Amino acid sequence: MKRVITLTFIVFFFPILTFAAEVEVLHFWTATGEARALTEIKQAVQSKGHSWLDFAVAGGGGENARAVLTQRVVTGSAPTAAQMKGTEIRVWAEKGVLANLDKLALAENWDALLPPSISSQMKYDGHYVAVPVNVHRLNWLWVNLDVLKASGVQKVPTTLDELFLALNKIKKAGYIALAHGSQPWQDTILFESMVLSVGGPEFYRRVFVDLDESALTSATMQRAFALFRQLKSYTDNESSGRDWDLTTALVIRGKAGMQIMGDWAKGEFIAANMQAGKQYACVPSPGTQGSFSYTVDAFAMFKVKSPEQIKAQEAFASSLLDPVVQQKFNQIKGSIPVRNDISSAGFDSCGQASMADFSEAGKNYAQVPSVATHMAMPLDKLTNVYELISEFWNDSQLSPLKASQLLAEAVK
Ligand code: GAL
Repeated sequence: MKRVITLTFIVFFFPILTFAAEVEVLHFWTATGEARALTEIKQAVQSKGHSWLDFAVAGGGGENARAVLTQRVVTGSAPTAAQMKGTEIRVWAEKGVLANLDKLALAENWDALLPPSISSQMKYDGHYVAVPVNVHRLNWLWVNLDVLKASGVQKVPTTLDELFLALNKIKKAGYIALAHGSQPWQDTILFESMVLSVGGPEFYRRVFVDLDESALTSATMQRAFALFRQLKSYTDNESSGRDWDLTTALVIRGKAGMQIMGDWAKGEFIAANMQAGKQYACVPSPGTQGSFSYTVDAFAMFKVKSPEQIKAQEAFASSLLDPVVQQKFNQIKGSIPVRNDISSAGFDSCGQASMADFSEAGKNYAQVPSVATHMAMPLDKLTNVYELISEFWNDSQLSPLKASQLLAEAVK
């Protein structure tokens, strides 16, 4: 009897066991909504017989995760995959440590499924080395509708004038008007929204992509700095260093009126059982209608050795673009699918608006890469930008004119 069971086990399960391996994934998705969304990917990998080794490094925006990854690669123990953004993929690819995913990409037709602007970022030297999972929009305003009502604000603000009117009323009513967590990457999110608002997408690209000195020091840029500073008076005293999700929680709990943040914030509203259009609203950050500042979450695949590990890595890569994962993951995360063939049915009003706006902005040359989340410029320049933007936020003596000149210096 015992032999029969053993034999049955070998015959039926040996093929799976042969190719099953562990997938170690380094990521920074530790907020409630982020972790819930990641579970969808993890379950897809596990359903293919592989095991998941979670390597979470807390810290919004991924600064901490980046440092840990460097250590792991330098010491020769890279994970199977690591979460990263466009400009970083290149850096690791140049070091020759990333795997070639062309075979899988060809079999699954990734070139046809992904927008060319995104698939090109996943390739190095024409070869796929990373896989995207979503598109996040940065230029959003998240609004607690009860706070708005209680403050006597009639309308969710869509212009800068309306924004400041609403902020004044909310502040007067005793709430934190603008929820902000002052960390360099979050300061830069607020700042890039102001640049997009006053300058529009073409100006934004001249500043953050072309690093055009005359645009960087222009009157428009100085206006963006001035508005950014004005926003500070609507934030609370505990803002310094606060994580983004704790900041979103202030809006969720009705302590604060609004937050300008990428749509990973929506993952927190969803996790708190709030509904878009009922308890909270999402609108493009005032003055940025028609523009779409985007960031793409992707996983770079590191070279692995054994056939089992390669199979498991491919299973993970394939799961990221699986149509069901694309739906479920993005509905929970707050982002939109990166695949171009996923229906918007099943997404809430913010998700559907985001999908429509992304495609419309694509036609109008109004999609811009988010500078704050590593999509626009190399890391060394971005580090200088972070420093300058936060210095300006914290030092009221630094004038918009001087700041714009320092910014031009910082990206040289
Ligand atoms: C962004 C990332 C999002 C979210 C956010 C906060 O850079 O694209 O997925 O995780 O950081 O950590």
